[in-house]
Amino acid sequence: MQNILVTGGAGYIGSHTVVELHNAGYNPIIVDNLSNSRKSVLTGLKNITGKDFTFYQIDCNDKDAFRQVFKAHEISGVIHFAAYKAVGESVAKPLEYYENNVGSLMTLIRLMKEEGVEKLIFSSSCTVYGQPDQLPVTEQSPKKTAESPYGNTKQVCEEVIEDTSISDKSFRAIALRYFNPVGAHPSSEIGELPLGIPNNLVPFITQTAAGWREQLTVFGDDYDTEDGSCVRDYIHVVDLAKAHVKSLEYLTKHANLSFDIFNIGTGKGNTVLEIVNTFEEVSGVKLNYRIGERRSGDIEKIYADVTKSSETLGWKTEKSLKDSLTDSWNWQKTLKQDV
Ligand code: NAD
Ligand code: WQD
Repeated sequence: MQNILVTGGAGYIGSHTVVELHNAGYNPIIVDNLSNSRKSVLTGLKNITGKDFTFYQIDCNDKDAFRQVFKAHEISGVIHFAAYKAVGESVAKPLEYYENNVGSLMTLIRLMKEEGVEKLIFSSSCTVYGQPDQLPVTEQSPKKTAESPYGNTKQVCEEVIEDTSISDKSFRAIALRYFNPVGAHPSSEIGELPLGIPNNLVPFITQTAAGWREQLTVFGDDYDTEDGSCVRDYIHVVDLAKAHVKSLEYLTKHANLSFDIFNIGTGKGNTVLEIVNTFEEVSGVKLNYRIGERRSGDIEKIYADVTKSSETLGWKTEKSLKDSLTDSWNWQKTLKQDV
């Protein structure tokens, strides 16, 4: 069984990917410093799969400790989720973001080269497209000047990976540009665990419905969209997780591939108000919300062209927006307010 190192494997997307790797016959090995996750995720993973996954509580920037993981296991590929991801916080703490996001990638690549590990799948983001001139966005759409240090770390990381793959034929990588991940595992054993007040729409909705937050503010209804609220491409986290397995298989099959990039979204845009209405429909809960001011820095509309990922990777989404919001709500109902 092939060992796949999953950094950030206790986090939201990482934990769902651990399940899909296991389902596909891989042995995921998790490295996570638990800076934005909890060890209880491992119990959820065991309840879903019946397996105790190997887990190391290590910071990816701690090169010596991290090296021991490579020494202890024969690693056949790495999926690198570990990063900080709060856009607003990155403006206040740019050095922490560059150090953690770019630094951990550099440490990882150094170790992969030292230990002769070839394959990397990297978590990038649709944030690299900024406000797109044309929709849907393809992988060829121009990257825009990043609006935050967080966004810039994703651009810089893609460049570090591409440059390394050019310089070293035995380092091969795929960057996946995620659109907006939502939902949870249908078992409700794992899901998103936002610490504190969520910035993202769906956790804010579910927490409002659960009575943790008083009211949702819809940030603006005067955009040039169907109902005036912003448009995003919301993808179920299980579909997103499966894209990593497909990417790994693709890298393995195509030994000459040095670097490639894929959009991972549904290909469809939904407005904030559509999300609110669909949530009310699937949950049966009336949401307390109001229309507020635009949020500074928000993109008016973005959604993915997924032709390349579906044709090249043979991957497509299987879950609907209703599935996503049902699973998010069922997951929310398992949480206690102190998380
Ligand atoms: P998350 O915070 O739930 O998961 C990240 C995990 O990495 C956490 O468990 C955290 O403890 C761990 N971590 C952070 N820094 C680490 C370090 N130095 N060493 C070891 N572990 C570390 O976030 P997520 O939503 O699962 O995101 C995963 C990846 O996907 C990130 O790279 C993120 O930037 C990217 N991404 C996320 C979204 C999104 O909206 N969730 C969208 C696009 C891209
Ligand atoms: C979605 C929509 C808000 C909260 C962020 C990052 C991006 C990427 C994904 C990682 C927007 C609206 C939200 C609320 C609202 N992350 N909204 N009320 O802005 O697409 O992207 O997460 O790479 O980098 O910037 O996601 O969930 O914050 O917002 O009306 O309380 O919901 O205005 O239109 P976003 P989001």
